Amino acid sequence: MLPTRNLLGIEGMNPLEIRSLLDRGDQFADAMQQSGDDLSPLSDVLRGKTIINLFYENSTRTRVSFELAAKRLGGAVLNIAVAGSSVKKGETLLDTATTLNAMHPHILVVRHNCSGAARLLSHQVDAAVINAGDGRHEHPTQALLDALTIRRRVGHIEGLKIAICGDVANSRVARSNIHLLGTLGAEVRLVSPATLLPTGIEQMGVSIATNLQEGICDADIVMMLRLQTERMAGTETPSQREYYNLFGLDRSKLMRAAPNALIMHPGPMNRGVEIDSAMADDAQKSLIRTQVEMGVAARMACLEAMAVNLASETEKRGNGS
Ligand code: CP
Repeated sequence: MLPTRNLLGIEGMNPLEIRSLLDRGDQFADAMQQSGDDLSPLSDVLRGKTIINLFYENSTRTRVSFELAAKRLGGAVLNIAVAGSSVKKGETLLDTATTLNAMHPHILVVRHNCSGAARLLSHQVDAAVINAGDGRHEHPTQALLDALTIRRRVGHIEGLKIAICGDVANSRVARSNIHLLGTLGAEVRLVSPATLLPTGIEQMGVSIATNLQEGICDADIVMMLRLQTERMAGTETPSQREYYNLFGLDRSKLMRAAPNALIMHPGPMNRGVEIDSAMADDAQKSLIRTQVEMGVAARMACLEAMAVNLASETEKRGNGS
């Protein structure tokens, strides 16, 4: 269930809406695990529908999983590589949007380095818009796949102590997860150097620590964030060695977390900067590969919910209401 025709962020979604997407994602994850290597569509809810992936920033996980998700729902997918498009000749975001709109896609999946870009686009196009990450603002489908990963492993989210650690200031993943995990009743802590904490972030109902060992004390989930040096122009960038010593997750620091603590990272990882390889690849503790797997299921749930909303709009137009 999606409350609006676009999926621009987790902020504003209620527990019922979030849980319904997670429940559906769970079903898709089960179905895909049962179907193994057979990648035939599991549903035809997107049959006759065109989905355009418009990515202004690099992506591996999000773009590929949206493509797989749309295909497994019977949709036709087009990927626009901005590097090879007319954007490189100076075409603006809005002109690109207007151009694509003239080709009548049904769903536009957008990643952009500016916060608010997906919302701006949603006002310019007839297609429903999914935010696949906008600047430092939100990355809603990442938060959904993270929650799905936790729920399938632990069984619940309510009551968990979840530490989100690292470059919070530049992280849209952190913001979407703060909204989602808090809405579902988790205790969310942010653990970050003071220079990488946005002012006023505690107003989002989180606690703050500037020391990793203190911040992850007794945590059930330790979610590491990438140091986003590409968003640090003009600010003081910490030395990667110093950062790793203080904020990189290794086995000795993890000892402070709960005994069965699980490790997450949205990817891509900077090994040896925010996380030690032994932690990232720990088969018992690391959920990082499961996160990638759940990306397809969570995105299928979102695309299906959008398709249902679009069908309802079409029906209402047909009834003249
Ligand atoms: N987590 C994430 O958004 O990864 P990509 O940048 O590879 O899509």
